[in-house]
Amino acid sequence: MSKLEILKERKKRALLGGGEQKIIQQHEKGKLTARERIELLLDEGSFHEIDTFVTHRCSDFGLEKQKFPGDGVVTGYGKIEGRPVAVFSQDFTVFGGSLSETNAEKICKIMNSAMKLGIPVIGLNDSGGARIQEGVNSLGGYADIFLLNTLASGVIPQISVIMGPCAGGAVYSPAITDFVFMVKNTSYMFVTGPNVVKTVTHETVTSEELGGAETHAVKSGVAHFSFDNEIETLLNVRKLMEYLPLNYRDTAPEYNFTEESEENQKVLDNIIPDSPNKPYDMKEIIKVLVDDDEFFEVHEHYAENIITGYARIGGISIGVVANQPSVLAGVLDINASLKGARFVRFCDAFGIPLLVLEDVPGFLPGTDQEWNGIIKHGAKLLFAFCEATVPKITVITRKAYGGAYDVMNSKHIRGDFNFAWPTAEIAVMGPKGAVEIIFKKEILESEDKEKTLDKILGEYVEKFANPYIAAERGFIDDVLQPSSTRNNLIKCFKLLKTKVDKNPKKKHCNIPL
Ligand code: HXC
Repeated sequence: MSKLEILKERKKRALLGGGEQKIIQQHEKGKLTARERIELLLDEGSFHEIDTFVTHRCSDFGLEKQKFPGDGVVTGYGKIEGRPVAVFSQDFTVFGGSLSETNAEKICKIMNSAMKLGIPVIGLNDSGGARIQEGVNSLGGYADIFLLNTLASGVIPQISVIMGPCAGGAVYSPAITDFVFMVKNTSYMFVTGPNVVKTVTHETVTSEELGGAETHAVKSGVAHFSFDNEIETLLNVRKLMEYLPLNYRDTAPEYNFTEESEENQKVLDNIIPDSPNKPYDMKEIIKVLVDDDEFFEVHEHYAENIITGYARIGGISIGVVANQPSVLAGVLDINASLKGARFVRFCDAFGIPLLVLEDVPGFLPGTDQEWNGIIKHGAKLLFAFCEATVPKITVITRKAYGGAYDVMNSKHIRGDFNFAWPTAEIAVMGPKGAVEIIFKKEILESEDKEKTLDKILGEYVEKFANPYIAAERGFIDDVLQPSSTRNNLIKCFKLLKTKVDKNPKKKHCNIPL
């Protein structure tokens, strides 16, 4: 065989991973192989693999007789919509995608390089965890990855896609990264599987219930996205990338956009119901305001009382944080605070401007929330908005009550432009609660309590349930006709492109965790 033929032969061998039989088994489980996934994720023909010939160094348990080129993880570089990314894709056909020492070295190599190049890392996870035969070498490999995940946090976007098992300590690498995608029915994440759960807590639970895509996308919030199959999942990773910069010094790509007449926006002038207690869908407002009705939602099914996601306004990529009056009246609870805070911090770390749409009655009261720490969790959202130096614009559509008024990017915590619609109500609390406290005596002492309450309530609403007192103080920069909001936002986000703001020098902040 000539040298060229040997090279060809070796490369051909590497493409087979754990062998044809294992590839068939992988397909039978409804899963694609590591390489097929990479093909779908990246622009056609853009993948450039490295470390194809790496093998493990273990000679225990007969492993020296089982060597596969690549050793169970495919790594390299490619492009998404013409922009570079680094990728690793665990190959379940080789020792169940388990992580060996060399396997970890390959992943770390690509991560180190991605940090130097300033390009995102996308990890496709499908692994039985630490390679058991390698013992502590494999555990050390995980720790090396966790360290790099942490050091890369805020430097480059890190995206984890869970496409099979992800159990034990292995879950902590995705957990440190910025976004977790899961595939319904074929992926799961848990610190201990159903058998251990049965022994320890006597609960009977399936893998899917314990740590499937639905569980993490709806209940725990560990997954930001879940999709029906692998193809849909990978296409949505590509979609997410369109809104992100390559690193913290880069800016997200700008797109062409269609100018829209205010006539098209007229629907906004009547979208807020007359009754302050009637719900409406904030997502309808978002879709009208953003370019081409396109809103890419993050954590769509978790803490639905707050909405987070990416869109463009005037071609500029923005992060949207919005209260959702149609779910729990848009109240801020623990989960909503966590969801919002994490989103705001990602946007701030990567220079993505923020748009806040506010209709919030306050923080959720009650023992459940207090005992579980709504104070410290709510503080995370407050902290995240206070700390953020990216362009920040708020539009109050209706309620801005109490502490939640301050938290949702108020002028006082460095909102660059704070707008309100004429329907806005900015007050310490809802009118009824407020008058019952400050006019308690008058109401109790009056002959017709109901009538007195109604009269005082009317006066209170007239005086406070509007945006003008805040506007007179300059806490609101302008009260907008709703249909003019989009054009105002386009101008403001454009203006804010040159914004520079800095936080004081420090080692790092101490966000209330
Ligand atoms: C070595 C492994 C392996 C592992 C699977 N394999 N997991 N080899 N180390 N961790 C091998 C199997 O021996 C098998 O090899 C092949 O991969 C496919 O595995 P199957 O069991 O046949 O597949 P399946 O039935 O689909 O089950 C997949 C699985 C199961 C659920 C992942 O293999 C499993 O439970 N594996 C162990 C999971 C685990 O406990 N890992 C350690 C977690 S603790 P052959 O040659 O037969 O095809 C951990 C610590 C991380 O990871 C710590 C970080 C701090």
